[in-house]
Amino acid sequence: MSKFIAAATLLLSGLLTMSARADTVLVTGATQGHGLAFVEDYAARGWRVIATARDPANAKDLAALAARYKDKIVIEQLDITDFAEVDALGAKYKSTPIDVLNLNGAINSFRVGPETFAKMDYAWLETVLKTNVTAQLYVAQAFLESVAASRQKKIAVMSAVGGSISGVRNSVAPAYRASKAAVNMLMRAYGEEVKGRGVAVLVIAPGTVDVHNYMDAPDLSKVPERYRRQIELKVLAPRSAIGAMIDLIDRLTVADIDKFHQWDGKTLPW
Ligand SMILES: NC(=O)c1ccc[n+]([C@@H]2O[C@H](COP(=O)([O-])OP(=O)(O)OC[C@H]3O[C@@H](n4cnc5c(N)ncnc54)[C@H](OP(=O)(O)O)[C@@H]3O)[C@@H](O)[C@H]2O)c1
Repeated sequence: MSKFIAAATLLLSGLLTMSARADTVLVTGATQGHGLAFVEDYAARGWRVIATARDPANAKDLAALAARYKDKIVIEQLDITDFAEVDALGAKYKSTPIDVLNLNGAINSFRVGPETFAKMDYAWLETVLKTNVTAQLYVAQAFLESVAASRQKKIAVMSAVGGSISGVRNSVAPAYRASKAAVNMLMRAYGEEVKGRGVAVLVIAPGTVDVHNYMDAPDLSKVPERYRRQIELKVLAPRSAIGAMIDLIDRLTVADIDKFHQWDGKTLPW
């Protein structure tokens, strides 16, 4: 009987340890927008979150979230284009398994910077490419061992529908779209490189997520023009899209690295 009790106790403590084990995600560019929303939703689900920001002292919304989820969120300073900083953070977390490396931080140059062929600023184009393409791979490489040592082994790259070459219908936002098409190819090939280690490199188009809950605004006239138009055109993804992407990333495996995934689980043409 005592042997039975001892075995049952061992089994129970094993199960408790398993259920207590939280997965870990690292989110780049966690100060605002999708990144901040990912941090919030992952923490609410009980994940351990390493949230990175270029300037943590000015990341007020992120600091407020970290205060709300004290034992879940750690804030780290990281400019993804500062490769010495990336190396240092990678070394700091060398022995920490990271289940999901969420490569979210990027220049969303649909919204910022000169973005037309008529006013092409080549220095800006290079900045966008360095941030949205080169730095994404650099961060992935710097954290590869931590990802490979984890249970989930996922690298999720936040791309954009605008990166779909088959979807080109006009000439707007050339730098942004070129950067997303390039990161798609870079990460699609990188997925082939690391799949033998069980690491799934997932390319995801998040859409424009309604992180401010404008869709629920009682008075649409108070919603910023850009979002109002997106609501009218029904192209704004609901706030729940962030949770849908967390579920999607959880679900996808190495078998899915050959597809360009949209937040809702649909597949986009490359
Ligand atoms: N929102 C959309 O409409 C949309 C649509 C499709 C795809 N996406 C993609 O989804 C991701 C998030 O978009 P978002 O709209 O949430 O972007 P966002 O609101 O413009 O925020 C961008 C984030 O990236 C960070 N960042 C920029 N340059 C960085 C650098 N050199 N090092 C580290 N972090 C850097 C910013 O940090 P700071 O606060 O320090 O500037 C900020 O936290 C991006 O990859 C974007 O391309 C967005």
